[in-house]
Amino acid sequence: MTHIVTERCVNCRYTDCATVCPVECFWETTDPAMLVIDPDTCIDCGLCIPECPVHAIYTEDELPEQYAEWKAKNAELVKKGTNLTQKKDALPGALTLEQVQQKERDRGWDIPEPGGT
Ligand code: F3S
Repeated sequence: MTHIVTERCVNCRYTDCATVCPVECFWETTDPAMLVIDPDTCIDCGLCIPECPVHAIYTEDELPEQYAEWKAKNAELVKKGTNLTQKKDALPGALTLEQVQQKERDRGWDIPEPGGT
């Protein structure tokens, strides 16, 4: 089991998640611009979930079907990422949770929020 960073993080990259991870499992990628979780390192502690301003992180059990592909994407993107444990400024143009939710509604999606938030 692992936690998964979803598309909600793309082009936002707030990084609050990485500062609370006890096992340093967050990796930064530039294409797409986001953080991902190393599934081999994550211990499913759940500390990162409520830290994310856009609720981008889900447990494997709660991963919405619309974001199912992000499980494999995290595992793949980790290989070209850079480990991150410190806070960085969010990306310019990072969305608010309300904007992220609106984008999802515009796609006809009704995405539940992760349980830890
Ligand atoms: Fe991304 Fe949220 Fe972390 S936007 S970088 S998962 S705090």
